[in-house]
Amino acid sequence: MTEHDIEQLISRMTLAEKLGQMTQVQPHGRDQEERVRQGGAGSLINVVGDDAYHYQWLAVEHSRLGIPLLLGRDVIHGFQTVFPIPLGQAAAFDPERVRQAAAHSAREAGAAGVNWTFSPMLDVARDPRWGRIAESFGEDPLLISRLGVAMVQGYQQEGVAACAKHFVGYGAAEGGRDYSATDLAPRALLDTYLPPFLAAQQAGVMTVMSAFNDLDGVPATGHEDLIRGTLKNRWGFDGLVVSDWCSVTEMIAHGFCEDAAAAARAGVSAGVDMEMASTSYLDHIAGLIEQGLLDIALVDDAVRRILRIKARLGLFQHPYGDPGRTQPQRPVATQLARSLARDSCVLLKNEQGLPLGEHARRVAVIGPMADAPGEQLGCWVFDGERQHSQTVFAALQERLGAQRVVHARGLEHCRSHDLDGLEAAVALARSAEVVVLCLGEDAGLSGEAHCRAHLDLPGAQQTLLEAVAATGVPVVLVIMAGRPLVLGPVLPHAQAVLYAWHPGSQGGPAIVDLLCGESPSGRLPVSFPRSVGQIPIFYNHKNTGRPPHPDAPSIPSGTPLDPSGFFAAYLDEDHRPLFPFGFGLGYTRFEYRDLQLSASQLTPGGTLCASVLLSNAGHRSATEVVQLYVRDLVGSVTRPVRELKDFQRISLQPGESQRVSFELHTDALRFHDRHLRQVCESGRFELWIGPDSASGPSAVFELMASQA
Ligand code: NOJ
Repeated sequence: MTEHDIEQLISRMTLAEKLGQMTQVQPHGRDQEERVRQGGAGSLINVVGDDAYHYQWLAVEHSRLGIPLLLGRDVIHGFQTVFPIPLGQAAAFDPERVRQAAAHSAREAGAAGVNWTFSPMLDVARDPRWGRIAESFGEDPLLISRLGVAMVQGYQQEGVAACAKHFVGYGAAEGGRDYSATDLAPRALLDTYLPPFLAAQQAGVMTVMSAFNDLDGVPATGHEDLIRGTLKNRWGFDGLVVSDWCSVTEMIAHGFCEDAAAAARAGVSAGVDMEMASTSYLDHIAGLIEQGLLDIALVDDAVRRILRIKARLGLFQHPYGDPGRTQPQRPVATQLARSLARDSCVLLKNEQGLPLGEHARRVAVIGPMADAPGEQLGCWVFDGERQHSQTVFAALQERLGAQRVVHARGLEHCRSHDLDGLEAAVALARSAEVVVLCLGEDAGLSGEAHCRAHLDLPGAQQTLLEAVAATGVPVVLVIMAGRPLVLGPVLPHAQAVLYAWHPGSQGGPAIVDLLCGESPSGRLPVSFPRSVGQIPIFYNHKNTGRPPHPDAPSIPSGTPLDPSGFFAAYLDEDHRPLFPFGFGLGYTRFEYRDLQLSASQLTPGGTLCASVLLSNAGHRSATEVVQLYVRDLVGSVTRPVRELKDFQRISLQPGESQRVSFELHTDALRFHDRHLRQVCESGRFELWIGPDSASGPSAVFELMASQA
C-alpha cells in the first residue's frame, strides 16, 4: 500500500471512521464487537489468541472499509518465554542478544495475533525508588540508546511494531513516585532524556508513546513543542504517536484542561495521533471541528500516520500475520533466555564461596526466592508461562543431584514477617557445607505504580539472612529484585553476593551455571546507593565547585565528617555509591595496561583510536565488559564528570591478553550549549578505558578548533 493509496483511503473515510482509527479500545469496553464492525476502533489493546483473530476478522471482513486493526500488547521482556527484566538485560551490555530476545518475543507474540508491542521503554532511570526502573535500561543515555535500538530492530524484523516510550522525562518523577511531575531543564532533556528516542527514531521505530508526567508545567501528552515540534517536525518521525492509558483525559486532573473536549483538542494539537483507553477523541473531535476549534487537517495527519504504520506492517496484505514469517522456536528461545539471564547477573562480592566447589557435598538452598517460579519472572508478564519457569532450587538439584541439595523457604514470601519457618531454615543451614540464600523482591514490588520509599530487603529477610549467617556456614547470597536495593546492611553477612535482578523463565539454570563455575560477566547499568538519602545518584553527574576529595576514605554510616571540610558531601554518609555504574566482578582478575591514543589532538569530524591492553591475569576464562568514558574538562557549559561513549564484551582465556580498540568520532563529543545549539567545542578531554565508571587508566587529548 503506497502513500497514494493511503490518501485515497482517507478520502473515502467518514469523520466517524477517522476518529475510530484514532482510538484504541480497551478490553471489555462497551460494545466492542459492534464498534469494530462500525470502523470505530483503529486498535485494540490486550486482546490475544483467538480473540485477536476474531476481532481482526471482524475489522477486515465486516467493517465498511476493511481496515485492519493494530493489536497492541505490553510485550516487555518476553511473551511466553520470559527474558530478564529490561534492567537485567541492560546489565549484559550486549545489544545483539537484546535484539535476538526481542525477535523471539515478537515471534511468540505474533503467533498469538499481536502486531504491536509497547516496548522498549527508553526512560532514563536514576531513581531506584521508582518501580519502573525495572522496565528501564538504567541510568545511561548511551546504553539505553544502544539497547533501545536493538529491541526496536528485533521486534520490527519480525513484523511487530515497536513503541518507544514514554515521551518524555517520565523517569525523572519527583521523589521516585510514579506519575509525579518532572522538572527538567531544556539542556537536560536535549543531552540526556531525548537521545534514546532520537536513536530509536533513526532506527525506524514505528510508534512512540506519550508520557503521563507533567513536564515543567505541560503534561507530556499535551506537549506540542516536544511531540509535534521536536519529534515530528525536527526529527522527521513519520510514524504514529499513541497516548498512554487515559493520559489524554488525565490532563484534566493535571489542571491543564477544563474538560474532555479540551483534553482531546490538546492531545490532537500536540500530535498524539491515537488515544489509548479513554474516548475523548471519539466523543469530542467532531464537535471541536464543527466549532472551528480544531483543524481537520490535524485529524487527517493522525489518520495518515496510523494507516502508514498498518501499511508498513503489511497488515493490508496479511492482516493475520505474514504466512512466511519465522515461527517461534521454543528451544532456541529457552537457550537465549538462559544465556541472557546468565550474563545479566552481577557478582558484587566474592570473598569465599564461589564458584561452589566439588567439595560442596551438601548445599542448602534457602529463602523465599529460591523456588518461586512466578516471582522470578518480574513485572509485566501477562503471557509468561510459569510452568516453564525454572528456579534455582530445581536447577541446582538437577545439576548436583537431589541428595546433595536441600531446601527450606525460611519465609513464606518476600514480604512476610512471620518467622515460623526460621528455625527449620537455620537447622538446614547448619547441616550443609554452603548455603545458597535466595532473597529479594517479589515481582509485585516493581513495575508501574509500584514504587518504594525503603530499599531494604522487604519483610523479615534481613532477620533470616542474619540468622543463617550466624551459623558460620558460608553464605552465597543470590538477590532477585526489580531495582537496586540498599545493600550496606546485607553485605557483611554473606561471603558472596550475586545480583540476579528478575531473571525470567531460565533464571534458575542461568544462576546455577554461574554458581557452578561460569564466570559472571554482568555489569551494573545503574549506580547502587549506600542509602536512600543519596538518591538520585548516578555516575554521569556534574562536578561541584567543592568536589569531595576523590580519594576520601569510605566513611562508615553515622560517623561525622571532619567539620573543617566544606565539601559537597554528607556528614553521615559517604558521597559515593556503594557500587558504581559499570561495576561487576568475575572469577578472574582483568588488568588494564598501556592505554594508547592514535593522536593527542584531533579536529572536528575526525576519529580518535583509543586502545588498551587487556589481560586475563587469573585462572579462569571469563568475559570482561570494557568501557570507554570521556570527560570534557572545560566547556561553555559545565559537562558531566564522566560519560560512557562505548563498550565491548571481550572474552579471554587465563593468561591471554588482547589489545582492545575503540574508534571515537568527534560527533560523540557534542552537547547543547547555552543557546541550546548542538556543538563540538575545542579543548581538552580526559578519556578512560576501564572496568567501570570509577576506575581505569586515563589519558588526555585535545580537540582543536576546526580550520575555517
Ligand atoms: C500504562 C503504562 O504506562 C504503559 O507503559 C503501558 O504500555 C500502557 N499502560 C498499556 O498497558
